[in-house]
Amino acid sequence: MVNYKGAFVLAPMVRIGELPTRLLALKYGADLVWGPEIIDRKLISCKRIENTKLGTIDFLSTSGNTKIPGVTNLVFRTCPKLESQKLIFQMGTANPELAVKAAKLIINDVDGIDINAGCPKHFSIHAGMGAALLKTPDLLFLILSSLVDQIGKPYNKPISVKIRLLENKQDTLNLVSKLLQSGISNLTIHCRTQTMRNREFPIRDYLDEIIQQCRQNNVSCIINGQIQSKNDYLALQTKYGSDVGAMIAEAAESNPSVFNDSPSNWQSVIKEFVHLSSTFDNWLGNSKYCLLKIIPGKHPLYSQIARAKTHHDLLKLVSELEINTAITNNNKNNNNNKNNNNNSQNKRKLQSDSSKAKLEKKLKINSTKSISV
Ligand SMILES: Cc1cc2nc3c(=O)[nH]c(=O)nc-3n(C[C@H](O)[C@H](O)[C@H](O)COP(=O)(O)O)c2cc1C
Repeated sequence: MVNYKGAFVLAPMVRIGELPTRLLALKYGADLVWGPEIIDRKLISCKRIENTKLGTIDFLSTSGNTKIPGVTNLVFRTCPKLESQKLIFQMGTANPELAVKAAKLIINDVDGIDINAGCPKHFSIHAGMGAALLKTPDLLFLILSSLVDQIGKPYNKPISVKIRLLENKQDTLNLVSKLLQSGISNLTIHCRTQTMRNREFPIRDYLDEIIQQCRQNNVSCIINGQIQSKNDYLALQTKYGSDVGAMIAEAAESNPSVFNDSPSNWQSVIKEFVHLSSTFDNWLGNSKYCLLKIIPGKHPLYSQIARAKTHHDLLKLVSELEINTAITNNNKNNNNNKNNNNNSQNKRKLQSDSSKAKLEKKLKINSTKSISV
């Protein structure tokens, strides 16, 4: 069984949390990764396929028109070899029976089921899902306890929930107290209320009381909201205890290597991202969407990526970026040494030409190799 205690984790993120982002987060030090929220009915409409070519398990929707440009029937893809023991599946639901039915389809391919009780978007709340569940605590309790009894216990897998704060402290503590009786293994608390936006600093005033409640019920607690780095995670553990975990969303959207002591720069991250996307045949529209969240808007590559038509185009663009970066660095070095005599300048040019050729050769080889995470 996975252990959430003190874990440093990738948040559930619709569109962003697909396989390439999750694999990068794991490579760079995330202990666990959440998949993007998938609605119970959508999962129930899926067929489970073992994709032997990619080494993945795919859940393909049997409904919907894939002839419409940009529409894919791939609902969820996991690579057991790289994600096993690390992957939490997040579900959107407002119905205990549908939640159990959907969870049964996927439980053998994931390491835990999490219920989204925090999403403030109209799409979720108008259907009674996400943050709407905070206002129907009996229903949320029933969903969680049904999953614990019918999925968690028989399959020996943890059930968890991700909530937001309510408008006042006592209501939040009462809600937490109720949910902790449902048999869940972990509670993630996004320390903002339903009306607060991500740019607002989270409320952590009574976090220690929530954590205390969790401890008393032997349920782990993960904190979410404005955690930007490993240092932030360690600082929270110093303040609240080493059994408390931390979940990162937006900072990982901009740089999935943020879990590391020294995160990589965006140029390196996009190179790895493109190789993973290509290796695992990620949906092109999704790869581009994620890349554009990582690349600074003003960089020329931004519009080039936006125009790419295939993964091959993306591979070519990141290879060229690497060559251009190497040349720029080389030119910088040359400029720094401008006052040297002509002979040594000519020698450097020859070296730069030969290193460019070497680099191009190396990239050609690398772009055909699959990446190991
Ligand atoms: C692009 C994006 C997609 C998100 N999708 C989900 C989701 O599927 N399920 C969920 O519970 N929260 C979702 N969230 C909310 C995050 O998981 C997280 O609670 C929120 O962004 C606060 O964390 P942060 O301050 O680290 O960004 C999403 C956030 C972003 C930015």
